[in-house]
Amino acid sequence: MEYEHILVERDGPVGVITLNRPRVLNALSPELIAELGHALDRLDADPGVGAAVLTGGEKVFAAGADIADMAERTAVDQLLRDQTGRWQAVTAFTKPLVAAVNGYALGGGCELALMCDLIVAGDTARFGQPEINLGIIPGAGGTQRWPRTVGKYVAMEINLLGQPIDARRAYRLGLVNRVVPAEVTVAVAVDLARQLAARAPLALRLAKEAVNRALETPLSEGLAAERKSFYFLFATEDQKEGMRAFLEKRRPEFKGR
Ligand code: CAA
Repeated sequence: MEYEHILVERDGPVGVITLNRPRVLNALSPELIAELGHALDRLDADPGVGAAVLTGGEKVFAAGADIADMAERTAVDQLLRDQTGRWQAVTAFTKPLVAAVNGYALGGGCELALMCDLIVAGDTARFGQPEINLGIIPGAGGTQRWPRTVGKYVAMEINLLGQPIDARRAYRLGLVNRVVPAEVTVAVAVDLARQLAARAPLALRLAKEAVNRALETPLSEGLAAERKSFYFLFATEDQKEGMRAFLEKRRPEFKGR
């Protein structure tokens, strides 16, 4: 399928998706989100892909949901379209997803970055939830993922004041994994994704699932689920290969089986 609002490329085992509506700072229209979901589903189903990078390119990640598209909608329109509900395709992606963020990641753009598993920020990155300035609140996870990531008080500031924070502050708060010069953000994210793609695919998938579960369940349930996944991995060829390779002092060759 040819896409109109995103670009999809392959860099070895890494799928790279670039949001591509530069004239409106990659505003997230329903069409763009539909294409993103479609592309992620395809990368998820492709056994040659081990991880993916999501970026907006060198200048901007995304300035949020498309305000022109939303301005005159009614509550009923919004409910029936369930626009942000459709973003679940992003969290349904089972492989590691690395965000490469330069410039603005605002509103839905910030929420999209927060749906990723790791975030590489260029030194120009700005993260924020300015929805309050439009008379609304975030609708794709901003009020939920910020407090789970940075705690209540910073989350209140971000969601109630609506002013963005820069890459350094985001790094200090634990929101981003690396801060790098903006020219190399995508390259660093691809390198990180390539390292992830070299890991055992089933272990990666279950590790991602387990960490995400930690944000949703009481500790005892999370620990029980972790144990089951841990035991399950002993049914995989990759566990045998990984442990034998260690004992034989060679690099493992994982197959995802
Ligand atoms: N939706 C639609 N169009 C947008 C947009 C958005 N979110 N953000 C920027 N644009 C458009 C602008 O209208 C402008 O178009 P024109 O050239 O046709 O006038 C173009 O992109 C360039 O933008 P600016 O001229 O404003 O660029 P700037 O550098 O002066 O400012 C900015 C950049 C601070 C990001 C500013 O564009 C801005 O504040 N954008 C809106 C940010 C925002 O409020 N996002 C939240 C949206 S609501 C949401 O996301 C809900 C949710 O939770 C899902």
